Amino acid sequence: MSFIEELKRRRTFGIISHPDAGKTTLTEKLLLFGGAIQIAGAVKSNKIKKHATSDFMEIEKQRGISVATSVMAFDYNSLKINILDTPGHQDFAEDTYRTLTAVDSVIVVVDVAKGVESQTEKLVGVSRMRNTPIIVFINKLDREGQDAFDLLDEIEQKLGLRVRPLSWPIGMGSNFQGVYNLYEKKLNLFRPHGKQDDEVIIFDDLNDPELDEIINPRAAAKLREEVEMIESVYDPFDAQAYRDGKIQPVFFGSAVNNFGVKELLDCFCDIAPSPLPRFTEERTIEPEEQKFTGFVFKIHANMDPKHRDRIAFVRICSGKFERGTKYLHVRNNKLMQFSNPTSFMAAKKEIVDEAFPGDIVGLYDSGNFKIGDTLTEGEVLHFKGIPSFSPEQFRYVNNTDPLKTKQFQKGLEQLMDEGVAQLFTRDMNQRKIVGTVGALQFEVIQYRMKGEYGASCDYEPVNLHKAFWVTCDDKKAYDEFYDRRRRDMATDKHGNPVFLAESAWALQMAQEQHPKVQFHIKSDF
Ligand code: G4P
Repeated sequence: MSFIEELKRRRTFGIISHPDAGKTTLTEKLLLFGGAIQIAGAVKSNKIKKHATSDFMEIEKQRGISVATSVMAFDYNSLKINILDTPGHQDFAEDTYRTLTAVDSVIVVVDVAKGVESQTEKLVGVSRMRNTPIIVFINKLDREGQDAFDLLDEIEQKLGLRVRPLSWPIGMGSNFQGVYNLYEKKLNLFRPHGKQDDEVIIFDDLNDPELDEIINPRAAAKLREEVEMIESVYDPFDAQAYRDGKIQPVFFGSAVNNFGVKELLDCFCDIAPSPLPRFTEERTIEPEEQKFTGFVFKIHANMDPKHRDRIAFVRICSGKFERGTKYLHVRNNKLMQFSNPTSFMAAKKEIVDEAFPGDIVGLYDSGNFKIGDTLTEGEVLHFKGIPSFSPEQFRYVNNTDPLKTKQFQKGLEQLMDEGVAQLFTRDMNQRKIVGTVGALQFEVIQYRMKGEYGASCDYEPVNLHKAFWVTCDDKKAYDEFYDRRRRDMATDKHGNPVFLAESAWALQMAQEQHPKVQFHIKSDF
């Protein structure tokens, strides 16, 4: 197969949802279709159960398991599909944000009863910053839920999407009879509890009286009326508008019953984009370019103390990656060669000899990589768009063993490079502040500092609301701002100035008093 054929057959995407909406179940069903696994239950959920939130070792163990399932690749209808897994637990939301920089599209799973939940909102927000094409899968139709039109309205309003249903439910909960597939004009009948195989009937004219016999006259009348409404309310589906991030197709189904999943997958294969261009500070990288480029979007440390290695996950953006070839690590200006790059076929890790745009390779790393690092065949490029978002929780971190200062500094630096948390140094007193999305990371840091670096640390509370990266074109205005606000200023690990707001009100005051200064909630403005 030629390089272009290999590249065109790749589909790299992520599934995002609020915990419990059915992401793991859907992933598993997709893998079953791809033949990547043979039995249900083979995918270890990396979902961190609520009761385990205080037991972070358990969580890390589960995260360990999830390395293998971080990327699940399978072949389906001559396509190579790469599913990038995203941690369900909200304390690892930063991991998910970064993973979303490495996908070309996403599928959002929404629970029909619960509708749009907080984590869905956050993750779709991040996907929309990059105009990522989105397909919505409304799950659990075998249960009572919200009215489908109301739910679509909620999705449009809360997620800022412009939806277009491509399938439509016939009933719901105990009256759920199936879906009408508007994309392929098929009636897909649901047989609960696996009593009988689901039945798919090609049905392109809903006015055909046979419909009344198949799903009963009342349901048929309702379906006709609703489909007519859909056709008049929503714009016709346009695959290019979807790929441009302007319209979002919606499917209905029940993942656990494996219902509506094949329709979703088949449509996804039809419309989802092959690897898209990526942007660097220097220029746009087209996937068709012959020379290899890629960036690190995730680093996973091995929690087993006997194997201290880390795996850096690299998204290939252009060209062909080859095992044993020397590539330039741009930030270190060093040539590096990888003898054991791994690919992830379902739950198996395998050494790969070559990989193509859209693929993810895992590179064993002894501390050379940071999130966002670029690898090339020699060109100096810096990939854009791996943002840091303002943390939600902050604490001063102190070194409690003066004899281990070096270890403390190294440990903290490496854990930050891995993206476990963010570190800010307060300008006024040089004190270090760790910022995280959730409380768990504080424990993770303490534990790993001890176990991996022999360093001890503790925390002190600091009253902060959020961190904002600041920019200003007017030097005089910036200097004035800085002089007045020095006590609130800190520096991030890249040396960028950050305003630490004690409250939403403090931010508002700063904005009002210094209108020429811009405050950014994420680092890649
Ligand atoms: P997540 O990864 O998004 O967190 O969700 P996950 O797939 O683990 O699903 C959460 C729960 O919802 C699971 O039940 C799962 O079986 C159930 N579920 C998924 N799809 C459907 C569906 O279409 N209909 C219904 N009724 N339930 C669905 P659980 O009780 O938490 O776990 P388990 O004991 O069943 O594994």
